[in-house]
Amino acid sequence: MRYTRPYYRFDLTLLQETLTAAQSAASQHAFLLKYAMKANHESKVLAKIKAAGLGVDCVSQEEIARALALGWGPSEIVFAGSGKTIREITYALRNNIGILHCESIEEWQLVQSWKAELGATTLIALRINPDLRVDTHEKISTGEKKHKFGMSFSEALQIVRQHPTTIVGFHFHVGSQILDLSYFEDLSITVRSLLSQLPPAFRLSYLNLGGGLGVDYLHPERARVADFSGWMKALRTHLPTSLIQEIVLEPGRSITAQCGTLIGEVQYIKKREEQSIAILDIGMTELLRPVLYGSRHKITAMNDSCITERYTISGPSCESSDTFGEGYVLPTLSRGDLVTIHTTGAYGTSMRLSYNLKEPLNVLYVDQPAQTSLKAGLFNFAS
Ligand code: LLP
Repeated sequence: MRYTRPYYRFDLTLLQETLTAAQSAASQHAFLLKYAMKANHESKVLAKIKAAGLGVDCVSQEEIARALALGWGPSEIVFAGSGKTIREITYALRNNIGILHCESIEEWQLVQSWKAELGATTLIALRINPDLRVDTHEKISTGEKKHKFGMSFSEALQIVRQHPTTIVGFHFHVGSQILDLSYFEDLSITVRSLLSQLPPAFRLSYLNLGGGLGVDYLHPERARVADFSGWMKALRTHLPTSLIQEIVLEPGRSITAQCGTLIGEVQYIKKREEQSIAILDIGMTELLRPVLYGSRHKITAMNDSCITERYTISGPSCESSDTFGEGYVLPTLSRGDLVTIHTTGAYGTSMRLSYNLKEPLNVLYVDQPAQTSLKAGLFNFAS
């Protein structure tokens, strides 16, 4: 019996379209983009992003190593993260990575002394926690006082006043999957007000406002390319170019989410009174987001049935939580049907689990509109 192993499929044509839109908005609104590698670190995806001229935002030694291996110059790399180890800090400094974001006074002291010891050229910026609430899932909101990220502005001021020449500027990131652009306007108001408190002698040469632009998970066909221009316009509302020429942004999800889909196969159907349960050969090990955040992705099935039914779509792991969600209305499913989980190009493969010794999935890259038929995938991956 024929079995199609599950796979991720990346539409490189859509990725290119997205990158072109992002870069065009960036040049229009005077932003410099550093792609957040945590969203997707597949080499072919990264190669396309690099070719489009984006820099890269890394949060581990391994991500930096991958960026260097793919040809990004050290100066194009930003190193961030709330728990950098000495091993990672010295690795970044030895490689003269462009900018390192420090998240506490303690970390800044550590980085300063290692920078001097190694004679590194890496510039240092401070990540500020602006204590700003945004409307997104609580687990991916990062800008409030209660969160572990960044230092308070008063701590940053201590460093700026006592050692003004050791830092070049500031980094903010208030959360991810933010669809209401007015929160980015709020951020621009807060940033302007904080920056106005800097001592006049301090010369600001770097400002990074993070990532966070959301994508449409439920109707991906309506907004295949995220609203980069709206995002940047909102961020610029209260930050004129006279303040600082070029502001850095670190988009992750908005660059790669829509170009990825995850394809799995129905293994078993369990009839239940309320709604049937379809058990697939993919689940939380391949896409963790639904289990971790209760996030909902659009799911479609490919079969000829004209009758629809309501399903709970579940994975194969021995965890009741291993489900993509309830209430999916799909054409009546049978064993062997292929099911597509949409908008999985960000935080999909990069967050996969090896639970149950699961191996990474195959990845199929589609680079031309003519090749977009799923049959191409079936042909390549049938076993
Ligand atoms: N910059 C910093 C400092 C970040 O922490 C993040 C994401 C980004 C940039 C990129 O944000 P984006 O443009 O992708 O929103 N695993 C979660 C998302 C975690 C986001 C972590 N930080 C999810 O699947 O929704």
